[in-house]
Amino acid sequence: MANVIVVGAQFGDEGKAKVTDLLARNADVVVRYQGGANAGHTVVVDGETYKFHLIPSGILYEGKTCILGPGMVIDPKAFINELGALMKRGLDDTKLKVSASAHVTMPYHLALDAAEEESRGANKIGTTKRGIGPTYADKCARSGIRMEDLLDKEVLREKLEWMVPRKNVLLERMYNIPPFDAKAILEEYSGYAEQIRKYVCDTSEYIFNAVQARKNILFEGAQGTLLDLDHGSYPYVTSSSPSAGGACIGAGIGPTIIDRVIGVSKAYMTRVGEGPFPTEQEGEIGEMLRQTGKAWAEVGVTTGRPRRCGWFDTVIGRYSVRINGLDCLAITKLDVLDEFDEIQICVAYKDKRDGSTHKEMSSIGSNFKHMEPIYKSFPGWKKPTGDLRSFKELPLEAQRYLDFIADELDCPVAIVSVGPTRDKTVVIEDPIHGPKRVLTKSTQQ
Ligand code: GDP
Ligand code: IMO
Ligand code: MG
Repeated sequence: MANVIVVGAQFGDEGKAKVTDLLARNADVVVRYQGGANAGHTVVVDGETYKFHLIPSGILYEGKTCILGPGMVIDPKAFINELGALMKRGLDDTKLKVSASAHVTMPYHLALDAAEEESRGANKIGTTKRGIGPTYADKCARSGIRMEDLLDKEVLREKLEWMVPRKNVLLERMYNIPPFDAKAILEEYSGYAEQIRKYVCDTSEYIFNAVQARKNILFEGAQGTLLDLDHGSYPYVTSSSPSAGGACIGAGIGPTIIDRVIGVSKAYMTRVGEGPFPTEQEGEIGEMLRQTGKAWAEVGVTTGRPRRCGWFDTVIGRYSVRINGLDCLAITKLDVLDEFDEIQICVAYKDKRDGSTHKEMSSIGSNFKHMEPIYKSFPGWKKPTGDLRSFKELPLEAQRYLDFIADELDCPVAIVSVGPTRDKTVVIEDPIHGPKRVLTKSTQQ
């Protein structure tokens, strides 16, 4: 038995779904613990591409319980559409469960997300406009609507009668947006409630019982560490806790049941939306990273926006190891680097103001704009890696590149992904039972 968290170690879109899909084969339960329809998780199996936003990617396997946990925010309309499309493709919903405590994204959340973004002008966050921030804001203000409220028409009516007039003041006066009608929302959303009712339960208890029965639980993170509300590049973050600690709160389990935390990183780096990105490459290199392999060009799964691309950043990597307590890494998209003559890795930042160098995020704080990456250059391997299946088969240059990342982050690389499909994977060590990060050099004072 092993309970494992898969977490994004960069800015999201690291290939978490591909890694979750690989590990889900041996899991009994797959749990999403935070975020909402802002996520875009792609899995390619048997020539079919699946894009998940709310539903755990474990649904691709027959007989696995898939849970949308209490830490999620769920847009019922998006959920019904996504599930409907998946069921049309033959997937089974009999073991799908939705937490009664998950918060519901309402139409005014979507409207506010768009209006607030617009009003921020040059300071916009670049949100996915899926209502994520406003839904979590209502949750923290203790005026949100939870799944259990959605299922009880009288409770829903009472909540909407209080909430909608308040949102309308904001929408009309502040943003000049037509008001919502509480009665119309009540009717529409009670209809969604009837479609969702059969999935709703106390998922935290379900997970606890599964743990007691020695089942394997896999926690599928959305977004990434640098988008974490507390630990990311605030305010350019999402409104939930994607990092590993968030799995306990967001799934309603205690930390003692977690056996492993696996961090997923691309072999380079991308970011969608605004915010600092020290190693971003805007010219020819960025375009080459974005376009390499037409079928998996770097375009956001949820919004279709082009992803900003840049080199691997070890300052961010080390930070992710620390924040998540990573046991090992899965490095994805190595194949995207196959054509490059030269590949760079950021080993530290130089402060442009005084020339000082910084290897740890603690000494940078939010001063990203003063930081300039210091790069170490690596020769490219200039060979296709997509058909290679063991570390030894990888070109020596690629082996050295991966070894360097493992050394700099002080964290073993267990998996290397060399293509989007399940088979295009190099397993160096068993990520669940193999060697894990040991407390060594970074603990020496
Ligand atoms: P997630 O949000 O972290 O699950 O990642 P996304 O699905 O948003 O983005 C990752 C993209 O890269 C998807 O299109 C995947 O199919 C694709 N992908 C995953 N691993 C690899 C890989 O090793 N090589 C290539 N070329 N594509 C990959
Ligand atoms: P997955 O799970 C990449 C980014 C948005 C924006 C910021 C806030 O596929 O890795 P939000 O809509 O959450 O309020 O937007 O976070 N963002 C993501 N970037 N991958 C994601 O999900 C993301 N989800 C949100 O682009 O910068
Ligand atoms: Mg994604």
